[in-house]
Amino acid sequence: MGVTIRFIWGFPLLICLLPLLNNFDGRDGGAMASHKLHFVEHTENLVEVKQVYRTGYHFQPKKNWINDPNAPMYYKGLYHLFYQYNPKGAVWGNIVWAHSVSTDLINWIPLEHAIVPSKPFDKYGCWSGSATILPGNKPVIIYTGIVKQKPEPGYQVQNYAIPANYSDPYLRKWIKPDNNPIIKPIHQNVSSFRDPTTAWFNKGHWKLVIGSKNNYRGIAYLYRSRDFIKWTKAKHPFHTKSDVGMWECPDFFPVSSKGTNGLDTSAIGGDVKYVFKASLDMTRFDYYTIGTYDLVKDKYIPDNTSVDGWAGLRYDYGNFYASKTFFDPIKKRRILTGWANESSTTSEDIAKGWAGIHLIPRKVWLDPSGNKLLQWPVVELDKLRGQKIQLSYTKLNKGDTIEIKGIVVAQADVDVTFTFSSLEKAELYDEKWDKFPPENLAKSICGIKGATVQGGLGPFGLLTLASSKLEEYTPVFFRIFKTVQNKHRVLLCSDATPSSLNQNEYKPSFGGFVDVDLAEKKLSLRSLIDHSVVESFAEGGKTVISSRIYPTLAVGEHAHLHVFNNGSEIITIVRLNAWSMNTAHIN
Ligand code: FRU
Repeated sequence: MGVTIRFIWGFPLLICLLPLLNNFDGRDGGAMASHKLHFVEHTENLVEVKQVYRTGYHFQPKKNWINDPNAPMYYKGLYHLFYQYNPKGAVWGNIVWAHSVSTDLINWIPLEHAIVPSKPFDKYGCWSGSATILPGNKPVIIYTGIVKQKPEPGYQVQNYAIPANYSDPYLRKWIKPDNNPIIKPIHQNVSSFRDPTTAWFNKGHWKLVIGSKNNYRGIAYLYRSRDFIKWTKAKHPFHTKSDVGMWECPDFFPVSSKGTNGLDTSAIGGDVKYVFKASLDMTRFDYYTIGTYDLVKDKYIPDNTSVDGWAGLRYDYGNFYASKTFFDPIKKRRILTGWANESSTTSEDIAKGWAGIHLIPRKVWLDPSGNKLLQWPVVELDKLRGQKIQLSYTKLNKGDTIEIKGIVVAQADVDVTFTFSSLEKAELYDEKWDKFPPENLAKSICGIKGATVQGGLGPFGLLTLASSKLEEYTPVFFRIFKTVQNKHRVLLCSDATPSSLNQNEYKPSFGGFVDVDLAEKKLSLRSLIDHSVVESFAEGGKTVISSRIYPTLAVGEHAHLHVFNNGSEIITIVRLNAWSMNTAHIN
């Protein structure tokens, strides 16, 4: 097992400066799901490529492109997941609703496609949507149909689909009744009117919101219906915000201000707060606010502790988009599931024959502070844990790394708690950094202060997917700063800059601040490592960052895992548990 070695942090600082230049975190590597059609997309004649980047326990189909999770729900003993899928290739296009079911949210069985373009009301695409369980345990889906290709990216309406046979727990067949579409755009923006939410019920009406925009104003239009067929647009939007651009895949749900249980989407009452999430097309991040729901005005109002805009809270400060939640009535929890696109080039995606994964479903609940959510991988994931390694009370001096051996580190779950005896050595927070755009502040500091830049209290954390001589590695680490007002700021970084020798990939130095009380002088980190993805949860899910990475050397059994400290304050590993993860049965 672990040997302590000192080693020299001699990697060029220059690469760390690049992310400063990015104003947006957008996929400058060309990996975003633009609604553009690509013409080289048939995978039938694919030459076998080495599939080193396929994940072992993350959701992905056998081949081709996937994007948003759609209509996740629980029905008669099974979890259902639908997703945006291109049956013809590894790039976005020809979108249908593919369908898989699971008993544990980790192992998935593929079924036939549930909704495919076939009618005038969805001829050019069946885009994202949500499920609502109507009284009598009757699921119904509302999704966006593309009826005309012009204006780009298409003329959008909302349709409904119902199961052909409610007694089939697999819900294999879906009917799209002929009275569709049920909602047509009644404003100018016919090509920015999509992704209906799960509906909720109060005051005799079902209500749902649809994502839209007007110039740069993000808009969530509210619709009401008594019978789920005839929908009327409310006079005022449910929520709207200037200067954020198109709101894709909105989500609105209640959270309990007591405990960790989830609530049904229609829940109202004294101990209930609300969450509104929008996927920002312009930045490709999912951001949310916590707020109240004014039942009289039928409007959502963010709390003044929640920043509403690009600089707001994100579910994930890395690669995570178009997410959706649902209420699991069996385990009484709310579950969040989201898409992580590739960070590789389109031609690499075409060569490997697939693109896109879904991240591990997370339980979400309100932090006791009431001002943010906590997120944690669903407990069912733990069943995949195999071989285990444990470390306790191990010291890390400045420059130390300890290799974690004896498990399969390319497919692993690592949970570690660090402690330190003093906050004295925390580096001074440079006030110049406050000139960075607030939405990019943490990422920019991670770009300047990478794992190789020696510090005071930190950087310390994990070097995941590392090659034997550290030509490649993805560090996930903490760094603690002290401001001139003597306040501490904890930064979590997941830095893909040194992750791969391949220069073509998008390799961002993602970062997020961790809002934590350092009184106990402890910080915890859990990272789910799975070949081309590292999902990291700081402090029990206060801050989450997911990175997609494509090492060329640190692949499969050639990958290594280290714990490191590159700060002058001694760090103690209170406990580290690391497991090899077994491969899930997925599709
Ligand atoms: C988000 C999105 C949605 C749309 C779908 C199309 O990634 O652009 O707005 O419904 O993907 O596949």
